[in-house]
Amino acid sequence: MPLLKVNEMNVTDRSAHWRPAILADIDAIYGIQCIVHADYPEACEVLLERLELCPTGCFVLEKDNVVSGYVLSHPWRRLSPPPIDTRLGVIPADADSWYLHDLALLRGTRGSGAGAKVAGLIAAQARRDGYQTLALVSVNGSQGFWERQGFSMRRDEMLAAKLSTYGDDAVYMEHDLAGDARF
Ligand SMILES: CC(C)(COP(=O)(O)OP(=O)(O)OC[C@H]1O[C@@H](n2cnc3c(N)ncnc32)[C@H](O)[C@@H]1OP(=O)(O)O)[C@@H](O)C(=O)NCCC(=O)NCCS
Repeated sequence: MPLLKVNEMNVTDRSAHWRPAILADIDAIYGIQCIVHADYPEACEVLLERLELCPTGCFVLEKDNVVSGYVLSHPWRRLSPPPIDTRLGVIPADADSWYLHDLALLRGTRGSGAGAKVAGLIAAQARRDGYQTLALVSVNGSQGFWERQGFSMRRDEMLAAKLSTYGDDAVYMEHDLAGDARF
């Protein structure tokens, strides 16, 4: 059950803004995750660990102190997406990409450009930290959205087993930041 009760119908504002996530946001993040990813839930401690390990990769979408979306991301190894609902332990010293663990908006804030905006913020952060590749697993029919943000699907034999916890429509994608003039 979500720790925070989130009423999707009240979150229809289009002027919300992204700000860096802080530890105190974890209840809101977990509450949104329980709604948006009800079929593939992750424990609150799993989400909290991402925030603790890489605060610069985590943002929340906020308006008037109400959080309606979040993104969690961190350095990781290419072609090696962590299984869902699993703690990372540490950020690997040989991380060679910036992994976008999850981006989730409550329904009322979708379609306003917020997702594209924060995808750009994450890409800029990854670039600042010296990474040339963004990676993620697209779920929930979001592949077209990620393609618009510069990602493309990668097929690799190593990936099949690693994607198995993400559901049938899971697709591993990468974005070559070095080849994208915007970053
Ligand atoms: C996917 C998601 C993050 C997109 O965020 P958003 O703020 O609604 O997207 P934007 O308004 O920034 O849309 C940017 C572009 O992507 C397109 N787009 C948005 N969602 C899309 C989708 N599911 N499939 C294809 N295109 C999509 C928009 O039409 C827009 O196109 P344009 O550049 O031609 O105008 C959001 O819908 C969401 O949280 N969905 C539920 C959780 C989820 O699936 N997360 C992804 C997990 S990998």
